[in-house]
Amino acid sequence: MQTETIRTVWWSDEDGEAVALLDQSRLPHETVTIRCRAEQEVADAIVTLKVRGAPAIGVTAAFGVALGLRHALPKVHSVVEARAALERICAELRRTRPTAVNLFWAIERMRQRVLATLETPDGLQTAGDVALAEAQAIADEDAAACRAMGRFGAALIADGDVLLTHCNAGALATAGWGTALAPLREAHQQGKRIRVFVDETRPVLQGARLTAWELQREGIPLTLITDNMAAHFMRRGGIRAIFVGADRIAANGDVANKIGTYGLAVLAQAHQIPFYVVAPRSTIDLSLPSGEAIPIEQRNPDEVTHIQGIPIAPEGITAANPAFDVTPHTSISAIITEAGIARAPYDESLPLLFAEPIAGKA
Ligand code: MRU
Repeated sequence: MQTETIRTVWWSDEDGEAVALLDQSRLPHETVTIRCRAEQEVADAIVTLKVRGAPAIGVTAAFGVALGLRHALPKVHSVVEARAALERICAELRRTRPTAVNLFWAIERMRQRVLATLETPDGLQTAGDVALAEAQAIADEDAAACRAMGRFGAALIADGDVLLTHCNAGALATAGWGTALAPLREAHQQGKRIRVFVDETRPVLQGARLTAWELQREGIPLTLITDNMAAHFMRRGGIRAIFVGADRIAANGDVANKIGTYGLAVLAQAHQIPFYVVAPRSTIDLSLPSGEAIPIEQRNPDEVTHIQGIPIAPEGITAANPAFDVTPHTSISAIITEAGIARAPYDESLPLLFAEPIAGKA
């Protein structure tokens, strides 16, 4: 079954230029499009999870750089001023969320492209259009990467499989089909009958609110569970494989992903269930030797003491809220990318994925 594609982030010319986003903080009950008209609004949308998911925040930040630059360029008088404006915009967007490397990867790619353009004779005139084209290329490449990850990953899924996923690594987290959900979508379209256990994913409930919404629209059978039910269903639910996304993958294959992923990986190992990570190469950070060096975002403890704004704990208590954890490479069966499937030893297999450069970046 082919359903209407979910649009997560796109460039909009309606009523003036804007970065348009499907407001994920209001899903699944309301589908509302917001239009960010300045880079500060783009940054705020990333911080407040109106857009989230590693590839999606990279694409959003890229459009944010283009938006900010196109506003700034008509007001500058020299290349020096244009460079200063670019650095200010990039810094503003970098400050939003620390863990997903796609954010920094996309901003840096935009920055390099614009700096190179500003070196050319008519750079001041063309940089705005070049920036927009580059942001669109990042979005298009992400969509293509999702399809490729889907094809590679679907080969690991058999007819009748029961699968489990955590958080939301679907269309809402990318500019295309998703990462971890792409193989599931592809397998479903190939006619394989699958069933998916969806972890609700406290504290912000990306599984219950977003993944359940996506899979239901797609007609993929799902069962929503609370996070603490995963072990039970691994033992008794016939789960055949686990598919998750990633926010940053270190050179040794350690993976940062939504809090709770690490626990699932340990459980999967205990139950001898394959644990697959699905991510584009823009999520791989070969500059970090291991997951120890990955910065973990600490979010407002109110997300733990409240559910959707409703208090669930005594007032005034202490709560912790790390948004991500790190799964050691030893618990990961394979890392599925758009360039192929990497297996241990990851310090050897991950660099090989870059033998062919990421499109547009050669
Ligand atoms: O805090 P979030 O919702 O941005 O966290 C998202 C995740 O952890 C996803 O699993 C990850 O970004 C991969 S998305 C394709």
